[in-house]
Amino acid sequence: MTEFIPKNLPIPQTIETIKVLKKTISANRALAKLNGVAKIIPNQAILINSLVLQEAKDSSEIENIITTHDELYRASIDISNITNEAKEVQNYSFALLKGFDLVKENHLLLKKYIVKIQEELEQNGAGVRCQSGTNLKNAQTGEVVFTPPQNYETIQNLLDNLEKFINEPNDNDPLVNMAIIHYQFESIHPFYDGNGRTGRIINILYLILKGLLDIPILYLSRYIIKNKNDYYRLLQEVRTKDALEEWILYMLDGVEQTSIETINLVEGINNLMEKTTDEVKEKLPKIYSKDLIEILFMHPYTKIDFLVDKLGITRQTASKYLKELEHLEIMKSIQIKNSKYFINSQLFAMLQKGI
Ligand SMILES: Nc1ncnc2c1ncn2[C@@H]1O[C@H](COP(=O)(O)OP(=O)(O)OP(=O)(O)O)[C@@H](O)[C@H]1O
Ligand SMILES: [Mg+2]
Repeated sequence: MTEFIPKNLPIPQTIETIKVLKKTISANRALAKLNGVAKIIPNQAILINSLVLQEAKDSSEIENIITTHDELYRASIDISNITNEAKEVQNYSFALLKGFDLVKENHLLLKKYIVKIQEELEQNGAGVRCQSGTNLKNAQTGEVVFTPPQNYETIQNLLDNLEKFINEPNDNDPLVNMAIIHYQFESIHPFYDGNGRTGRIINILYLILKGLLDIPILYLSRYIIKNKNDYYRLLQEVRTKDALEEWILYMLDGVEQTSIETINLVEGINNLMEKTTDEVKEKLPKIYSKDLIEILFMHPYTKIDFLVDKLGITRQTASKYLKELEHLEIMKSIQIKNSKYFINSQLFAMLQKGI
């Protein structure tokens, strides 16, 4: 099969059709609401932490790297003996957070950052493809559906063009651009592996870059899993049928649906935090502090060390606090090997369900 070389951006034809424009309005509205609602959570790290892990799990699942929430949460607080899958999912969240820092600091999303993100994700320095032979195959039939550019220089030139498109202003709605960028990136397919996941990280970073979101909390992977056949089909049909409008509408719908779901989740977490605050204030006034509540929500699993470090108390006191919280059934203790962990079960359940 001959290779497909995507055209340089911008795309010459009109892409903001009436249908697309209509959908950008509702998608932007939902996204702006999410960005606002996120601010009700007093410590933004709480949301970043929990939602990044969720996204890492979902995005990796598209690649058939399956973890359970439990494995994942344990892995993320360094419990030994984690599975390879959990390790890969963890790499995804490190890669995403690294990208977030780079974009926040530099107000740019450069090619070299994208290379760094993929390196972090795959934990190898292979970089941009310089040997031919990469094909995309249909997972069921093994048939080659798409051969991306094979020549190193062609790939680099296309990436330079994409970098320009990402960072220089244009008149399109940023959400429309995000869809175009994702298509273009996946079609360049610059790496040997991890292109899908890197591309999905670029989506969120682009929204940060354009100021649509302050923190990385809109994750489309759950939507993509639910609509996975459409994801592959529509990407393909932009190439084979020039069906850009359908692809853009698919992505806009993803932004809208996911924003609405995430708003519910953020509100759910906020309500639970308030409820927990009230309960601890009333029943355990001696141990209550705003910081304590935040620690319990920073991660579904809490260790005695977290309290020691963040509250500046002794291990003995920290352990007493957690026991009292367990007594109120706010936390549930589990023993893993030689260590004791305390689970915020309601938060755990909420994140698992994704509301
Ligand atoms: N026909 C296609 N045209 C363009 N891109 C495609 C096509 N089919 C699949 N893709 C993209 O290629 C990705 C898979 O590539 P790769 O294996 O390098 O990435 P990954 O991150 O390891 O995998 P995954 O996306 O499955 O997690 C898909 O997620 C999708 O984004
Ligand atoms: Mg892969």
